[in-house]
Amino acid sequence: MRPMNSAPNAGAGRVLSGMRPTGALHLGNYHGALRNWVDLQHHHECYFFVADWHALTTDYENPSLLQKHVHEMVVDWLAAGLDPDKCAIFIQSQVPGHAELHLLLSMITPLSWLERVPTYKDQQAQLKEKDLATYGFLGYPLLQSADILIYRPDFVPVGEDQVAHVEMTREVARRFNNLYGRDPAFAKKVKAALGKLGPAEAREQYTALRRSHQESGTADALSGARKLVQAAGHLEGADRELLLANLEGEHHRLLPAPEVLLTPSPKVPGLDGRKMSKSYGNTIRLTEEPESIDKKVRAMSTDPARVRRTDPGTPEKCPVWDLHKLYSSEETRAWVRQGCTTAGIGCLDCKKPVIERICADATTMRERAAPYLTNPARVREILDAGAKRANAAAESTMQVVRGAMNLLPGASAS
Ligand code: TRP
Ligand code: SF4
Repeated sequence: MRPMNSAPNAGAGRVLSGMRPTGALHLGNYHGALRNWVDLQHHHECYFFVADWHALTTDYENPSLLQKHVHEMVVDWLAAGLDPDKCAIFIQSQVPGHAELHLLLSMITPLSWLERVPTYKDQQAQLKEKDLATYGFLGYPLLQSADILIYRPDFVPVGEDQVAHVEMTREVARRFNNLYGRDPAFAKKVKAALGKLGPAEAREQYTALRRSHQESGTADALSGARKLVQAAGHLEGADRELLLANLEGEHHRLLPAPEVLLTPSPKVPGLDGRKMSKSYGNTIRLTEEPESIDKKVRAMSTDPARVRRTDPGTPEKCPVWDLHKLYSSEETRAWVRQGCTTAGIGCLDCKKPVIERICADATTMRERAAPYLTNPARVREILDAGAKRANAAAESTMQVVRGAMNLLPGASAS
């Protein structure tokens, strides 16, 4: 087992992401986020957390299920294959630095940035039964910025719906660096560091990529330039940091602006054909029992044009087809297409391979979950160890932040 305080896969960059505690997870959560986390842990230094404070931004009136939801979700993370030896798994509220950084960032964040976050008005309209005219609800994207920036991650894997929050986070980081990372000698220091980057070719490439990123904001140019700097093995740490900072602006990079890692989000249909969602009650849980999966998928809606067994169907109009896209081989899909469009197979025949695959996955996951269900103390141990690692990373950023804002007694800002 790897010691918890070592940094596995540090070379490929750090990854951070979080999820609100919604209790047991379903296939939509898995294919939309969790599956991707499980992959990332093999290639990056990863931090994954339960956003329990975020849950309170909308559900403050009734927190009674919070602990249950946190526990169930973490067990499902482990069931899906997140490995506590490979990534830090923790709960947001166990790392108080998130709250401190949120407070400090709130000093410099214009109200208008929060008011124009698209989810702000959308969610208020959607969750009409809740009073979301609160300070906490308005501020939650900034809490998310603090969640992210405190770990100085290179990448934040999120779905489409969260991209605006990460974009705002990047702006907050830039504003912070602009305010507190200024240094009259910056340009001179960068020039000296650039001299050490390598042959003229590398220097020119760096300058061109930097210009392209600054002019058109292209993320590709930014990652290209970063790779170039990272690959220059002979550079000293401080020079490397200066060249990385210079990609983002003419100031020190106290809080690096992370890149969005957009999670591919395949369509995961619910049992009624709408998007799978807990609030629609149309889900299949990650660790659902085989009998129940069988029953649910058998009853799942299909192409409405296939009323009788003899009616041909169109896979594109059928939610079961979306499941085949997630679970079936080329070969099986060809069989479905042929059988469906010619009425050669019935819908139950068609559902069978999907049921088998979902059941097989669920069985693996139930087996992984079993030891945690019989021994919840083991889950607590994992979360404690994760919080310890997270607190260490968070504290080192907070030292920089406190220093930059002249909050360290006895020190004077330079
Ligand atoms: N807001 C995210 C959601 O609703 C959860 C979240 C909170 C998050 N903090 C984060 C995601 C930081 C990524 C990074 O899904
Ligand atoms: Fe859908 Fe399969 Fe039935 Fe065609 S045969 S309508 S793809 S369930």
